[in-house]
Amino acid sequence: MPKISQKGQLMPSSPIRKLVPYAEQAYKEGKTVYHLNIGQPDIKTPEVALDAVKVHSLDILAYTRSEGSEDYRKKIAQYYSKNDINVTHSDIIVTTGGSEALLFAFGSVMDSGDEIIIPEPFYANYNGFSTASDIKVVPVISKIENNFALPPIEEFEALITDKTKAILICNPGNPTGYLYSKEEIKQLAALVKKHDLFLIADEVYREFVYDGNEFYSIMQEDGLEDYAIMIDSVSKRYSMCGARIGYFVSRNKEVIQTALKFAQARLSPPTLAQIASEAALDTPQSYFDDVIVEYVKRRNTLIRELKTIDGLKIAEPKGAFYCIVELPVKSADHFAQWLLESYDYEKETVMVAPAAGFYSTPGVGLNQIRIAYVLNEESLIRAVHILKEALKVYPNP
Ligand SMILES: Cc1ncc(COP(=O)(O)O)c(C=O)c1O
Repeated sequence: MPKISQKGQLMPSSPIRKLVPYAEQAYKEGKTVYHLNIGQPDIKTPEVALDAVKVHSLDILAYTRSEGSEDYRKKIAQYYSKNDINVTHSDIIVTTGGSEALLFAFGSVMDSGDEIIIPEPFYANYNGFSTASDIKVVPVISKIENNFALPPIEEFEALITDKTKAILICNPGNPTGYLYSKEEIKQLAALVKKHDLFLIADEVYREFVYDGNEFYSIMQEDGLEDYAIMIDSVSKRYSMCGARIGYFVSRNKEVIQTALKFAQARLSPPTLAQIASEAALDTPQSYFDDVIVEYVKRRNTLIRELKTIDGLKIAEPKGAFYCIVELPVKSADHFAQWLLESYDYEKETVMVAPAAGFYSTPGVGLNQIRIAYVLNEESLIRAVHILKEALKVYPNP
């Protein structure tokens, strides 16, 4: 039989999806499963976006330009300008989700065997994109004890080799919920300039910032024009995960020209989804205000309820909608599977994401889980109660 590639063998499967068969078995057994494991918001997509695809006047569903339609990119530039980010439409490539923007970034600035430094825990698919691009992730461990703040900049510097091409951050963080301060971004900016590296920032959760904190983008940092690449997406901002629209943004012309060649190879981002996403830019501010109020309520409820359980360490999130929790168990992987396979509380159970898959250092985060607070308050209270009861009887082998 012909052999599959080494790369294919090394490609990690999703640490979140590997529990799906156990969840399916739990449904078959008649259990209700509270999904704290995925980042699919239950918030409604803005009507302006849905209406735009209902009433469009296309008679051919054609390709658009590879970088996305010019009108759309001009409107995106206006959106950024309102967020104190000065870019023009020529600094933006519309992509098939933030996922494709990440692949374009890796492909444009790194060669086989090159290294990228990423604070961990990090969004698990960075591992997959790195394998697909044949580059090496070099992790810097951030700690639950300080809510996953940026590790000391000397730790980044100590890891820089002649293979290092970029530093990647996610701000606000999935899975940490951490929001990097202006000061932390400035430290990273100084480091990449000193060592001539790219700074890639995944800012897909930009709007999800709480407690009056201010979000500071790498694109706001003066002097970083040639170094900064920003990854963006409509998926969470407008609860449009299925649209598959993201953006690759850089003021470095060479980087944009290179990423455009990757974009040309896949011809066009999805046309109908661009229509919806362009219309989404007219979403009234009140939509975002309501969403933030809702997430703050959920976060506060989640943290309050989790604090009633003994022996937990909780990283308090300042942004995004995720929270890492350290459990009094030996293996969160085993615990998560056990919850679905062997446990129920009044015919109900919960599904959580074991956090080890968000680390690339072996043996770290083994007793941590990631909780996504994408359920309404009532369901969150119930889910945490089930977690509490489960921990009382979990055999912890
Ligand atoms: C941190 C982060 N980056 C990128 C993505 C990719 O999003 P999409 O491809 O839907 O735009 C996600 C999705 O969950 C994410 O959490």
